[in-house]
Formats: sequence, structure tokens, C-alpha cells
Amino acid sequence: MTNMIAKVPMGKDGVLVGRQGLGCMGMSEFYGAADPDASRRVLDLALDLGVTHFDTADMYGIGANEEFLAPFLRDNRKRAHIATKYGYRRSLDAPDDWGVTNDPAHIHRAVDASLHRLGVEVIDLYYMHRRDPAVPLADSIGAMADLVQAGKVRALGLCEVSATELAEAHAIHPIAALQSEWSVFSRDIEAEVAATAARLGTAIIPFAPLGRGLLTGALSLAADDARRHFPRFSDANLDANTRAAQVIGALAAARGVSPAQIALAWLHDRARVFGVTVIPIPGTRQPARLRENLGALDITLTADELATLAPLAAQVQGQRV
Ligand SMILES: NC(=O)c1ccc[n+]([C@@H]2O[C@H](COP(=O)([O-])OP(=O)(O)OC[C@H]3O[C@@H](n4cnc5c(N)ncnc54)[C@H](OP(=O)(O)O)[C@@H]3O)[C@@H](O)[C@H]2O)c1
Repeated sequence: MTNMIAKVPMGKDGVLVGRQGLGCMGMSEFYGAADPDASRRVLDLALDLGVTHFDTADMYGIGANEEFLAPFLRDNRKRAHIATKYGYRRSLDAPDDWGVTNDPAHIHRAVDASLHRLGVEVIDLYYMHRRDPAVPLADSIGAMADLVQAGKVRALGLCEVSATELAEAHAIHPIAALQSEWSVFSRDIEAEVAATAARLGTAIIPFAPLGRGLLTGALSLAADDARRHFPRFSDANLDANTRAAQVIGALAAARGVSPAQIALAWLHDRARVFGVTVIPIPGTRQPARLRENLGALDITLTADELATLAPLAAQVQGQRV
């Protein structure tokens, strides 16, 4: 296959991965019914096009997303770089327990369960999904470092932590990746975290880079879609946020590209602004959209386009979570 996307390091001196990854969460939960055959085609096409970094978590589908990825990983273990996460307590017995735990005993149980479900001998990147302030960071990072030592995990990551927490953790063990929400509509991490990641050599993995679909101009919500519970998608806010996203649609139309491509190109431009590695993980279950989203890598936004996008985050109605 020609036209493979370029590779960048996953953290300082880290393994090289395609500079855009794939979020796999929606293949198993939250965003309405998924077609497993189509999702598998997305995974295979991703590899063919040079996407090598695949993102899951133990809580997506309460283990189901990791299990779904297992046959794909078995067939492509040498080429696919897999990231998963621990931290949420949800279980099949308590699916609505959104509590978080970072204690070492939980981490050791969770990693073994993920290794088993994924069917791999080592996890390439293991994230703390959310910080549990009741557990000292040194204890959880220490336990995660033990997993590297034991050969169960290759590199460590954190999600949605503060700049101080990132630096504190990095002093205990190198943190290859920081995963936080980052998009044209969600720019919290620009205040402090992005510069700290750049200083430490930690790659930033923006999740929900398409604003959970809001930025694409093609959002449709099934009756059971979990996004209905998010403030930005509420009846009170969705119309205003859809209007704000139309600015992206207008830029896209003027260039003859798609809104999703503009939104992702904006994130790739942030790598230049902050001097940091940025590997967005847009989620899709549709092969054509995967191909479309990779087209963002061919777009360099102009100063005028960047200036048009700059005020949008401040106009968004509703908290991001
Ligand atoms: N660390 C965390 O706390 C956290 C939180 C949330 C998500 N994540 C990770 O980040 C990944 C990405 O986030 P996300 O899936 O929530 O949001 P996202 O990537 O911003 O948006 C995904 C949504 O956009 C749609 N979409 C994708 N490409 C499109 C296109 N070209 N045109 C129109 N619609 C398009 C998808 O629908 P289709 O699937 O139907 O294409 C899906 O509904 C997840 O899969 C997950 O791995 C991590």
C-alpha cells in the first residue's frame, strides 16, 4: 500500500506509530449499535493506510471492546500498537458504578484481565484512565512501573491529569503519553498541560478530537446514545453547539474538504504551536470515514482559517463532561 501516513514517536525515544491513531470505543459501547464486520474492516483498513495506534480501555463495553480487538491483534500483532486503560470500577455486576480506583492491588488485577481479554503477552501503552485522589500518585505509578519491569506493559500513560500530576508522575517513571480531550471545542489542556507535556517529551493523544461527532456536521444520535447524557448534547445546548460547528462546515466547504478533516487538521497544527507530538485518535466504525479522517494530514490550515476557529471553544454551551 502506498501513501502510508507518517510515523511519530510515542513519547521521548518511544516506539514509532502512525501520526493519527484510531479510537475503538464506539465499536462496542456508547454511540449506538455498531456492526462488528464493518468495525473489523475499519481496523484492517487502518493498518493498510499506516494507522498503527489503536485505543481501547477495560471499561469500554465492560471488557467487550478489548475482546472485540483480540482477533485483530492476533492477526496483526507485529504491526498494531495497542493502548488500554484501567481505573473505572464498572463491572458486569455493577455497570453503573462510575467510581475510580487506582490502588496497586486493583492495577495488578486489571492488567492481567486486560492481557487475557486482548489475547496479548504485553500491552504497548497502559493508561491510568482517571486519577483517584485517594491513592498517592507514587503508589499507582509505582505499581504501573512494576508492570513495565515485569514485561506486562511497554510504556505508561495518564488521562486527564493536571500539569502538576503529569510532572510528578514523570519523575517516578517516564510517561510516554497523556490522553485528554482536545479539539476545536475543548481546549482546557492548552492552559498548562500541553506545555508541560512538550517539556517532558510526553506525546499528547487527544480523545474526542471530533467533539464526539459534534464537529463533523453529520451528528446523529440513536435513542440509547450515551452522548444524550452529556451537557453539550442536551436539548438546551445542542442547537447552539451545532450552530457554532457550522463555522467549521463553512471553512470546509470553501476548501472542498470535510468538517472532520478541518477539525483534525486544527489538532495537527497544535503540535506545531506547542512543539509537542500530537496523535489524535478519532473514533469511527465506517471505513469511508477512516479514509476521510486521514485526509486531514494533507491539510495545512492558513492563518485566517486558524483565526476563524480560535473563538469557537469559548462559544460552546455546556461542560464537556
Ligand atoms: N480517555 C478518555 O477518557 C476517553 C474518553 C472518550 C473517548 N476516548 C477515546 O477516544 C476515542 C475517540 O473519541 P470519541 O469516539 O468519543 O469521539 P470523536 O472521535 O470525537 O467522535 C466520534 C464520533 O464521530 C463520528 N465520526 C467519525 N468520523 C467522522 C466523519 N468523518 N464524519 C462524520 N462523523 C464522523 C463517529 O461515528 P461513526 O463511528 O459512526 O463513524 C462517532 O460518532 C474513543 O474511541 C476512545 O478510544 C477516551
